[in-house]
Amino acid sequence: MIQLGVNIDHVATIRQARMGIEPEPVQAAAIAEQHGADQITIHLREDRRHIQDRDLKILRKTIQTRLNLEMAATDEMIEIAKKIKPDTVTLVPEKREELTTEGGLNLKPEHAEKIKQLKAAGIEVSVFIEPDLEMIKLAKEIGADAVEIHTGKYANLKDKNEIQIELERIYDAAILVEELDMRVVAGHGLNYHNIHELVEMDVFEEYNIGHSIISRAVFTGLAEAVLEMKTLINS
Ligand code: PXP
Repeated sequence: MIQLGVNIDHVATIRQARMGIEPEPVQAAAIAEQHGADQITIHLREDRRHIQDRDLKILRKTIQTRLNLEMAATDEMIEIAKKIKPDTVTLVPEKREELTTEGGLNLKPEHAEKIKQLKAAGIEVSVFIEPDLEMIKLAKEIGADAVEIHTGKYANLKDKNEIQIELERIYDAAILVEELDMRVVAGHGLNYHNIHELVEMDVFEEYNIGHSIISRAVFTGLAEAVLEMKTLINS
């Protein structure tokens, strides 16, 4: 079975808009798991703009599948991960000014030490990188267990030829990850329309998807939410 990681950061984004207690990401995680998510993915950002430390702690205790923590490779985050022990850490680049993770991590040999520390704590380490063959070879050399290929460029392209070229890059990259005996994951910008081409490649073991699932949930749930309120004010 191909694994689906559901990224619930956007639930926390809505909660943080009012700094209140709803919607609760922990509840989102439970519903996602009850409906087939194989993993819950969260990004604890340095500026804590959506997921909070408290969410990470509670989710670690309540998630029944797997917890995938996306984080920057900073000393602060490495310490948090070693303490909380998510099943997987996905190392991602992070810039304060970005809206979402733009581009893959620029892996460096120095990341080896951080990967070693995480693995010593029993955590699987995945790296979020562009479909770049040299970067993938480096990921293997420095001890990554998995590679999540950044599909954001593919998702944003409009030109058919450019899309085809990017899909070929992604395929070649995914095959290399597989040949190097690392888990092959894809994520970023994937939605109900652009996922088919990746599924057809029949190489990815896991997808991490957030924005499109939470966006769709707004509309699949809106009718019922309005009806419930209408009933309430008339009862
Ligand atoms: N995978 C990684 C490593 C990410 O950083 C993100 C965004 O937080 C996702 C997957 C999910 O991307 P999207 O929300 O566009 O589906």
